[in-house]
Amino acid sequence: MIKIAPSILAADFAKLGEEIAGVETADYLHLDIMDGVFVPNISIGLPVLESVRKTTDMTFDVHLMITSPARYVSRFAGAGGDIIVFHVEAETEENTRAAINEIHGCGRKAGLAVKPGTSADELLPYIDMIDIALVMTVEPGFGGQEFMPGMLAKIERLKQIIDSRSLNCEIEVDGGINVKTAKMCVQAGANVLVAGSDIFRSADKAAQIETLRRGRIN
Ligand code: DX5
Ligand code: ZN
Repeated sequence: MIKIAPSILAADFAKLGEEIAGVETADYLHLDIMDGVFVPNISIGLPVLESVRKTTDMTFDVHLMITSPARYVSRFAGAGGDIIVFHVEAETEENTRAAINEIHGCGRKAGLAVKPGTSADELLPYIDMIDIALVMTVEPGFGGQEFMPGMLAKIERLKQIIDSRSLNCEIEVDGGINVKTAKMCVQAGANVLVAGSDIFRSADKAAQIETLRRGRIN
């Protein structure tokens, strides 16, 4: 099943509740957390997550782009994150394993992300522990960038490994997703499509969510 995850990074933060209500037909709500150190931008944090949690029952897909994320995973789970994804580049192997277990201990789903310059193989030591593998299709930090087609091979590799081992791990893509690139990612094996600009800059967000979903058929 193809899942659509609108990224609120592209929403109008002055009317965030209304913006979220406009995308409730999507499967996940993607929340980008940036600390200005792991990535060269600062976005939102725990107080915003706690506030919007009260406004919707959507599944919150929290994308941590922060240094040493293991320090914070349980707080993001406690604040209402349903899926907590952090970057494999940001932690030691020991802390990565501990953080995944901590997220699961909170009853949440755990995911690991790779930047464009990181091999998909960096996820392999954890692939049987995680619920979602996030392949960044732009350099993390900013919305509205161009999709990097070179990332498709990474999706294919992960898909092949996950299927050959019959693992229950979703493959998510994030960055530069529109109907054309969504199709390419789904063909490569992704099933969760994050889209910020493409959905929030659209006059009819619900229709755009459907267009991205339908894009898989043709
Ligand atoms: C980038 C973020 C993305 C971003 C995607 O670091 O992780 O989630 O919002 O934005 P678009 O869809 O505009 O490329
Ligand atoms: Zn993201």
